[in-house]
Amino acid sequence: MKKTIVLLPGDGIGPEVTRAAATVLREAGHEFHHQFEFQEFPVGGAAIDATGVPLPNETLDACRKADAIFLGAVGGSKWDALPVGKRPESGLLALRQGLGLFVNLRPVKLLEPLRLISPLKPERLGDLDIEIVRELAGGMYFGERGNVREKDVERAWDTESYSVPEIERVANFAYARAEVRSRRMVSVDKANVLASSQLWRRTVVGMNAAHPDVRLEHMYVDNAAMQLTLRPAQFDVMLTTNMFGDILSDAAAALVGSIGLIPSASFGSNAPLFEPIHGSAPNLVGTDSANPIGSILSATMMLRDAFGLSLEADWVEQSLHRVLSNGYRTTDIAGPGGRVVGGSIFTEMLREEMQRTLEHAERYGWGV
Ligand code: NAD
Ligand code: IPM
Ligand code: MN
Repeated sequence: MKKTIVLLPGDGIGPEVTRAAATVLREAGHEFHHQFEFQEFPVGGAAIDATGVPLPNETLDACRKADAIFLGAVGGSKWDALPVGKRPESGLLALRQGLGLFVNLRPVKLLEPLRLISPLKPERLGDLDIEIVRELAGGMYFGERGNVREKDVERAWDTESYSVPEIERVANFAYARAEVRSRRMVSVDKANVLASSQLWRRTVVGMNAAHPDVRLEHMYVDNAAMQLTLRPAQFDVMLTTNMFGDILSDAAAALVGSIGLIPSASFGSNAPLFEPIHGSAPNLVGTDSANPIGSILSATMMLRDAFGLSLEADWVEQSLHRVLSNGYRTTDIAGPGGRVVGGSIFTEMLREEMQRTLEHAERYGWGV
């Protein structure tokens, strides 16, 4: 298989977690005889410093021609004084928009060796396995906004707005996920207050007839935040808006131990984009303590969901489970008896474990 992969390391810990993802992809290419060509481009603060804008045309063009894109993280205090529209984060939003990425899938799944580091009691946590389907191209992120000064009083606004087709395309994706999982879907909104949420709910309900096997429930976002912490096992597929999905996915990440563990995949009209859900974690820069797992699992999502390479993805994930079972941890997921290592050492251990898994599989067969 021949694929072009664009790497967008970005800022802060972005470059180090991108290196981890690239290591895994390179190994998969090498061992399974795929030709993965990597191209690296600037985005976010790094792009502002190099070119003056957070999403240079060259970067967007390369992404449009790619088979898949990997993004580390963007943002940092150096650029915090810039106005909305010129910040590193605006580069990421422009990229999502420029690639027509309208759905962001964020799987939050308990990694069994990490059960005890969850802030929840094991009986509450259950076998947590949620898929958050976050709308990615609309809502408040892209609505009309402004800033005025009237009689010495400053006012700023952002608007939440959704059209029926915008809701339908993301809901279609969520229904399809529910159909191949437990056939349960919770749509999260604020329909008791917001007109956009009322339309959201009505549209999602209307589509249920075409997906009769899916048991649809609705939950207001405030309650959903509470239920996630109280009884997370009730959730399977969670469909929600851009803003609510951003917030709820960080909350859900905490349940399995760290935001550093959660990957994501975004789909739309162009090549898919894969990125961990965490940010540039300025407090960790230079300490080699960023957890690379969210990034590594984003790479396995790329292998599986962009390229259809399930065996390769399973290989990486099985090896990752073994490294964790052997007790190796980055600081954020350190627990009793764990052996804390730096992020780059963790990735190297994974690479070695992948070699051992491969030798074992060649001798005895996969899954033995
Ligand atoms: P953050 O995700 O960077 O950090 C939140 C907390 O989680 C911090 O305590 C951090 O140390 C920890 N953390 C994050 N990733 C980790 C990892 N891989 N391993 C271990 N711990 C990790 O969020 P923030 O502090 O709110 O934002 C920092 C910057 O990142 C801001 O500029 C923000 O806009 C940006 N941001 C970017 C993205 C993205 O590029 N997709 C996402 C979120 C935030
Ligand atoms: C995320 C981030 C981004 C978002 C920011 C950096 C634009 O928080 O990917 O979760 O809000 O979508
Ligand atoms: Mn976020």
